[in-house]
Amino acid sequence: MEARVYNFSSGPAALPLAVMEKVQEQLLVYPGVGASVMEISHRSKTFSAIHEAAKSGIKQLLGLSDDYRVLFVPGGATMQFSMIPMNFLAGKSADYIQCGTWGDKALKEAKKFGETRIAWSGKAEGYSRMPANTELVLNPDAAYLHFTANETIEGIEFFQEPESGNVPLICDASSNFLSKPIPANNYAMIYAGAQKNVGPSGMAVVIVRQDLIERAPAGLPVLLDYRVMAENDSLYNTPPSFGIYIVSLVTQWLIEEIGGLGKMEAINIEKAKRLYAVIDGSGGYYRGHAVPECRSRMNVTFRLPDETLEARFVSQAKEAGMHELKGHRSVGGCRASIYNAMPLEGVQALCDFMVDFQKNNG
Ligand SMILES: Cc1ncc(COP(=O)(O)O)c(C=O)c1O
Repeated sequence: MEARVYNFSSGPAALPLAVMEKVQEQLLVYPGVGASVMEISHRSKTFSAIHEAAKSGIKQLLGLSDDYRVLFVPGGATMQFSMIPMNFLAGKSADYIQCGTWGDKALKEAKKFGETRIAWSGKAEGYSRMPANTELVLNPDAAYLHFTANETIEGIEFFQEPESGNVPLICDASSNFLSKPIPANNYAMIYAGAQKNVGPSGMAVVIVRQDLIERAPAGLPVLLDYRVMAENDSLYNTPPSFGIYIVSLVTQWLIEEIGGLGKMEAINIEKAKRLYAVIDGSGGYYRGHAVPECRSRMNVTFRLPDETLEARFVSQAKEAGMHELKGHRSVGGCRASIYNAMPLEGVQALCDFMVDFQKNNG
């Protein structure tokens, strides 16, 4: 078998090795059923136990109260950009924080369904920072306030939630989900495309407070209706069962092997610190995109002196076993995505490579 590389992809991203080994071990025969998880009924006792483990793992990690439902919804985070306004606008206006490429996409989608307001925009600053609470211009009657906890493309992150008062707070946490403890019970809804921190692509984990679900209008298409999803416990139709199984394993890994989100955060802080230290210590050879206080711990975005060097950097890193370091075309340069599953050794290998690369190409 070919060796696994250090995979810095922004998503679908690396999953914990221990999880992948477990999947491999159980792929053909899941204990007790003589078949793969992919091959058994989503209404079987075995799958119900897997589904319960995935939901309770998320609830335990985030300390969620019983007011919240954990749903697994096909269509990824982008589907949520549509479902949120369809279900929750209810003839009102919604506030959006336009803090990066993904926040902007969520806003554009919502506009199709009704009135929106921009509570703050980072567009003119090239999405290089997140706003302080004092900068937000909020509508106290808004149907909800939407924000993106971590902007994957620009590499900027919120370290304190926007304060929305009585307005329900809705968060796209796709790229920093379960990477640190958060006051989850202050949110009305948290959703995340699974493919960065918790599982395979094509599915979103949706955590939604019951009272918000009750606001959904009648008559929505069944699979786009949170009420239908919640009443049927994500099983109105055949769910993304294999993805739910992976989420159950990832949450178990976070609880049992890592020791919870506090421990995970400490590891993530250390990884990010090492990479940003190389950038800051390079005398301007590597230039970070983000304003230092808003630097993402998940997606480290940086430039080199010119595009020829950037292309050489990406290709030589690949030869050295560090893949997917090219930045998104809209920002350019390089991006190292260092989600939960990226081990400290992988980050250290990249740091060492960056220092050597500068010596040889400075
Ligand atoms: C912050 C954020 N939101 C939304 C998305 C879209 O997710 P999906 O591709 O699952 O629709 C992504 C990345 O893919 C993302 O990084």
